[in-house]
Amino acid sequence: MSGIRPTGFLHLGNYFGAVRNYVRMQDAYTCYFMVADLHALTTLNETRELKGHVRRVMAENIASGLDPERVAFYCQSHVPETSELYLLLNMLAYVGELEKTPTFKEKVRLQPQNVNAGLLTYPVLQAADILLHRATLVPVGKDQEQHLEIARNYVNRFNGRYGEVFPEPYAFNFGEALIKVPSLDGAGKMSKSENQMATIYLADDDATIRKKIAKAKTDSGPAVSGASGVVQPGGESGASGVQSGGESGAGRSGGKSGAVQRGMMPGIPMSESVANLFLLLRLVSSEDVVQKFSADYEAGTIRYGDMKKELAEGMVRFVAPIREKAEAIQNDDAYLRRVMEEGAAKARSSAKVTIGLVKDAIGL
Ligand code: ADP
Ligand code: NA
Repeated sequence: MSGIRPTGFLHLGNYFGAVRNYVRMQDAYTCYFMVADLHALTTLNETRELKGHVRRVMAENIASGLDPERVAFYCQSHVPETSELYLLLNMLAYVGELEKTPTFKEKVRLQPQNVNAGLLTYPVLQAADILLHRATLVPVGKDQEQHLEIARNYVNRFNGRYGEVFPEPYAFNFGEALIKVPSLDGAGKMSKSENQMATIYLADDDATIRKKIAKAKTDSGPAVSGASGVVQPGGESGASGVQSGGESGAGRSGGKSGAVQRGMMPGIPMSESVANLFLLLRLVSSEDVVQKFSADYEAGTIRYGDMKKELAEGMVRFVAPIREKAEAIQNDDAYLRRVMEEGAAKARSSAKVTIGLVKDAIGL
């Protein structure tokens, strides 16, 4: 079980953190994937475009390989049992705990004029989405790890108070570390709403992708930002001395790392922005290309301009076919309507069983 908010075009973070795994899971597991339009209401003031965004996100998922015949692919608000379970789980959610959730604190910072209760109880609604199907595996990016822990708390409280109904759900990436696709400006994760120039969307045209990659940060040190020439050994990563956040989460969350985490000189770690470029390159380019630039990096002969060109072409090759398919699907009204109806029917039949068990357990 997993979901994506219809708050804008999907980006590479959504793809590599989530959608890719939806597709990988669809044959081996019973899957429920949904577009979280209720969740979107916590941040939207304006809902005129919401339906269009739901269709777009559905189209982008299908264009990425998600097959509505093999999974239940639905729109959250079409399954009212979600809201019913959400209400019941609210009785197990402590306000103090919700107030401490980092994502809530972040939202308070971002929209101080609209700190609604829906924002506070966002993790409760998310738990309801998952528990509604008594799901155990939740394919999500690294940013969602904490929400899964909250969902497990509700499972344990519910089971402890009313009797065993729910299994514990875990974030899932086929046994690998969860993914965090970095933003191109080196500031945190790629995200739908933040810096659009630092985010590659599945809807971006080829020229836009090339432009964004050309502007991507290669180093956090001001002296060499945007440098594309030959870098002397130790120059690029040594000179800047800026090691944002350490974590090199970039290299690590990318899974099988290797070269990325090694510096050019013993004891000098690769800068975060360069590590991010390697992480992105590894996602869309062949192993040969990654090897070549890793070797150049080690030798101190890497040309970041060349690396970015290669990265841009890899991204264009990756994004273009999805973009084109998504556009065609988005325009097929009748098809999307059928997908949503069938998805909701499948999800509701699973949801009704759970709601029955929940009511029995509580004594409603
Ligand atoms: P966004 O944060 O862009 O608004 P959502 O909150 O709708 O996206 O998240 C949808 C899915 O995409 C979640 O599983 C989330 O973990 C994943 N995701 C979002 N951004 C990234 C990222 N930069 N790297 C990895 N996964 C991500
Ligand atoms: Na997110």
